[in-house]
Amino acid sequence: MTSPIRTERHDDVLVVISDNPPVNALGQAVRAGLKDAIGEALANDSIKAVVIRCDGQTFFAGADITEFGKPPVGPNLPEALDAMEASDKPVVAAIHGTALGGGCEVALACHYRVAVPSAKMGLPEVKLGLIPGAAGTQRLPRLVGAEAALPMVVGGNPISAKKAKEIGLLDKIVGEGSLESDAIAFARSKIGQPVPRASEGTANEDGVRDPDLFDRFRASQARQIRGFDAPNAAIEAVKAAGQLPYADGVKKERELFMKLMTGTQSAAMRHYFFAERAANKIDDVPRDTPLIPIRKVGVIGAGTMGGGISMNFLSAGIPVTILEMAQDALERGTGTMRRNYENTAKRGRMTTEQVENAMSLLTSTLSYDDLADCDLVIEAVYENMDVKKQVFAKLDEVVKQGAILASNTSYLDVDEIATATKRPGYVLGMHFFSPANVMKLLEVVRGKETRHDVLATVMKLAKTIGKVAAVSGVCPGFIGNRMLSKRQEQANALIMEGANYWDVDDVLLEFGFPMGPFQMGDLAGIDIGWHRDPTKVTTIREALCAAGRFGQKNGKGFYDYDEARNRTPSDEVKAIIADFATKEGKEQREISKDEIRERLLYPMVNEGAKILEEGMAQRSSDIDVVWINGYGWPLYTGGPMHWAETIGLDTVVAGLEKYGLPVSDYLKSRAEGGGKF
Ligand code: 3HC
Repeated sequence: MTSPIRTERHDDVLVVISDNPPVNALGQAVRAGLKDAIGEALANDSIKAVVIRCDGQTFFAGADITEFGKPPVGPNLPEALDAMEASDKPVVAAIHGTALGGGCEVALACHYRVAVPSAKMGLPEVKLGLIPGAAGTQRLPRLVGAEAALPMVVGGNPISAKKAKEIGLLDKIVGEGSLESDAIAFARSKIGQPVPRASEGTANEDGVRDPDLFDRFRASQARQIRGFDAPNAAIEAVKAAGQLPYADGVKKERELFMKLMTGTQSAAMRHYFFAERAANKIDDVPRDTPLIPIRKVGVIGAGTMGGGISMNFLSAGIPVTILEMAQDALERGTGTMRRNYENTAKRGRMTTEQVENAMSLLTSTLSYDDLADCDLVIEAVYENMDVKKQVFAKLDEVVKQGAILASNTSYLDVDEIATATKRPGYVLGMHFFSPANVMKLLEVVRGKETRHDVLATVMKLAKTIGKVAAVSGVCPGFIGNRMLSKRQEQANALIMEGANYWDVDDVLLEFGFPMGPFQMGDLAGIDIGWHRDPTKVTTIREALCAAGRFGQKNGKGFYDYDEARNRTPSDEVKAIIADFATKEGKEQREISKDEIRERLLYPMVNEGAKILEEGMAQRSSDIDVVWINGYGWPLYTGGPMHWAETIGLDTVVAGLEKYGLPVSDYLKSRAEGGGKF
């Protein structure tokens, strides 16, 4: 097998080049090749300096994740990097694309780092439930200081070349089109000088001078890192870089790394990494399916949903025409969009210029005719089949042939909607989640006639607008809401049987969800869909509305809220629930948190199994992608289906049987047939 590493001589400089598509992951052959190439450079007196660069789209994007969990084959990355750093001849990393994880650690082990302006550098290991494992947590703080290192190691987001230069991670930004020659010239300019080694740097002393730095940082990240093991280990590792000699710090890093690597969180997060990428692929749609160019998008409805959907495209530089029935609704909608952008700008996440650019791509209209030349129209009107069909019939009349017509419905039959048109092949569901400009998930609902090029285009478009897409077949509630309804059923049943509603919320909170169903109800507004007749009370929600408890918006719903929106359980609500239970003859008993958790989550897994059996989801990992991105299922458990496999499908089956809840044959067969979906 030919090595992915080759070398080229440029007089006294050896250029070491990796060609390991798609992302130059640091697999065994790459590590071995790098080590050999450095050996070659050291052994040859006529070589005075080394440049390391990559072919293809990016500098090394990290360790090869597919090797994780398999028996390691040497050389390991730390060994290869130590040999590199030990060289007395200058070694220069020439970076383009993304130097991530192990790739960033390669750069840190080099004596110098140069990059093109578009390059990014980062340590995203926490996103895989890990910390850097090739001395990144020890070299980085010594090079740039603990304060600058912490957000990189703990947050895991890449930084721009400009920022990397500012903090001292890069030595020079070179020409976008002249990386290799500029890097060679840079390397040559360092020949004969003592080499700086990151492992010998002293910038980490900022953490010694100000040891509270670490606790302050942890506190500032409390919300984002709740429940995750890796970020705390990352803080500990960076702290160790200030407290321990380099070699001991590296040992500490290794201990923390190995503990995480063998734990369930990292396994779950690695599962998710591949799940997200798999979800974008549709098994029977060839990867080279020609795409339909999307140059202009139409959105019907300027309410919260339509506005949020539009913002996705505007932010990605795609013009949008938004349609409403009345001028005041149109103005209200576009006004809200502008305000949302301006708020983002106030928080420093957009410039005023970007706000204006986005808004300049928006056209508003009251006339369907203005949608004629759109390449994609997304309908976000009231959830009513007749209304949707009217909209689609009208769209079919006015919008050019070859354009895609999408419904944002969250549960209606997309095939029936498609019958309102003469082009069912161009119809599909694009189910966005509220707030649509923020939530990552896009459920793409594939009708029975939806064409391949339409699906391929929408999957690609999802990536362009920063969404994570997963495909669902047509069934009530699709993947996400169909499973949610099973959880909601149990939440309602549990409180009727005597479980405290705050315990139901707390169980989900403790599991890692951002909130439970009753908190969610309060946030969304309990009066949504209420008939406004206080004398007609048939459900607990109607009873709350009749008692003037509408949710957070008026300070009382299931909970009472103080000024700071802290919630306290309400005696009035407890009495309302008890009253309902008595009327329905439900016996009240004490219900443990274990029972609550199992009854909320196991039926979801069972429904997921049915979704798989019916072919409504392509693969179980797609269901995980939906729940993690659309419903706040904790990433560190890998999603409902991966979680079920981790705790054991037989455990789930036994639990469902214990509570007398339905168990699908498919779930049973998977439990018996190896415990995997
Ligand atoms: N190992 C193995 N495969 C990888 C990989 C990696 N590190 N990174 C990406 N891939 C694969 C993907 O699975 C995908 O495969 P597919 O085409 O079969 O689905 C293919 O490469 C292309 O990836 P993307 O679809 O993600 O391509 P993009 O161009 O959108 O993004 C990227 C490129 C920004 C590099 C992105 O792939 C990425 O973020 N990769 C992961 C980076 C990472 O987490 N690195 C740290 C690894 S852990 C580590 O280094 C430990 C060390 O400290 C010891």
